[in-house]
Amino acid sequence: MTAPVLRWGVMGPGWIAQRFVEALIENTTQQVVAVGSRSAQRADDFARRMGVEAAHGSYESLLADPLVEIVYVSTPHPQHHRCALDAIAAGKHVLIEKPLGINASQAREVFTAAQNAGVFAGEAMWTRFLPKFDALGQILADGLLGEIRTVAADHGEFFTTDHRIYDTALAGGPMLDLGTYPIAFAYWTLGHVATVSAIGQPANDELNGQVSATLGHVGGSQSLVHTTILSNTPTTAFVAGEDAYLELPGPFYQPGPFRLVPRTGDVLVHDEEPGTHTDGLHFSAVDAARRIAAGAADSGVHPAADVIETLDVMDRIRAQVGIVFPGE
Ligand SMILES: NC(=O)c1ccc[n+]([C@@H]2O[C@H](COP(=O)([O-])OP(=O)(O)OC[C@H]3O[C@@H](n4cnc5c(N)ncnc54)[C@H](OP(=O)(O)O)[C@@H]3O)[C@@H](O)[C@H]2O)c1
Repeated sequence: MTAPVLRWGVMGPGWIAQRFVEALIENTTQQVVAVGSRSAQRADDFARRMGVEAAHGSYESLLADPLVEIVYVSTPHPQHHRCALDAIAAGKHVLIEKPLGINASQAREVFTAAQNAGVFAGEAMWTRFLPKFDALGQILADGLLGEIRTVAADHGEFFTTDHRIYDTALAGGPMLDLGTYPIAFAYWTLGHVATVSAIGQPANDELNGQVSATLGHVGGSQSLVHTTILSNTPTTAFVAGEDAYLELPGPFYQPGPFRLVPRTGDVLVHDEEPGTHTDGLHFSAVDAARRIAAGAADSGVHPAADVIETLDVMDRIRAQVGIVFPGE
C-alpha cells in the first residue's frame, strides 16, 4: 500500500493476468491503466470486467500508450521474449511472468536490452516475493539449520489435454509452468548447480509429461526436484541441515505455514493462513515499483542472475531428457 505508484499495462489478458490485476486492486495502490490483446473484443471484455480504462486491440497499440509506465507480460512462455523486447524498445519497464523466457539465452538477452535501455526488467516469480519466503530467507541467513545438506521440492498438477500445457507450440509440458518452482527453490537454497542427473517420461508422442532430477550443488549438497502434468502431487518441499529441517506443506510455493524442526528442542511453527494467487501476486509488482523508484535495473529479491541460473539449470535438465522447445 505504501509502494510508489506505477501505471501498469497488461499484455495478454488470460488466466494469470486476471488474478494479477485482482491482487493489485485488492492489496495495493498500483494503477492498471491499460490492457492489450491480440483481439479488440478480448481487450474490451477484460477492461470492462477488471475496471481498466484503456483497451487496446493490439500489443503495438498498448506499447504506444504514453500513460503506460510498466508492462506486465502475461502471454504464453515462448512469447515472453518478443513481448518483453518490444516493450523495452518502446521505453517501458517490464515485469514478465515466469519463466521469463524459454531458456537462459532469452533471459540474458532481455536483461541486457533492459540495461541498455535504462529500464527495469524482472521475472514475476511470485513465490520469492511472498512474506513466507522472507521469513524462510531470514532463517536460512541466520544459520538455524546448520550446514544444509539436502533439499527436495515437487510440483505436480494433473491437466486435461485441452489445456495449453499440452500444446508443443507453446513450449508445453511440466518444465516451464511447474518445474520452474522446485528448480528455482533448489537454486535459491543451495546455490550454483555443478551436476545434473535427470530422467523424463513422455505424456504422448510429442510431449514430455514428467521429469525427476538430482542436482549436485557446488560444495556437495544435493537437491531432488520433480515435476509432472500426469498426476496431482502433494507439492511439498523440505530443506534439511545438520541442526534442523524446514518442512513446507503443499503448495510450498503459495502463501501458507511452515515448520522448523530442530534435531533437539521445540518445533517452531510459522503460522500463516494458506492463500492463493490473489493473495500473493502483488508482492513482485510492488517490489518492481520500489526498485524502479530507486533507479534499479532488476530486483534485489529475485535478481537477473537468479532468473538466468534457474533457466540454465532447466536447459541442462532438458538436454539430458531430450526436451526441445519451438525455435531452439
Ligand atoms: N505466477 C503464476 O502463478 C502463474 C500461473 C499461471 C500461469 N503463469 C504464467 O503466465 C503465462 C500465461 O499463462 P496463462 O495460464 O495465463 O495463459 P492463458 O490463460 O492462455 O493466457 C495467455 C494470454 O496470452 C495471449 N497470447 C499471446 N500470444 C498467444 C498465443 N500464441 N497463444 C495463446 N495465447 C496468446 C492471449 O491473450 P490475447 O490473445 O487476448 O492477447 C492469452 O489470453 C505463462 O507463461 C505461465 O507460466 C503464471
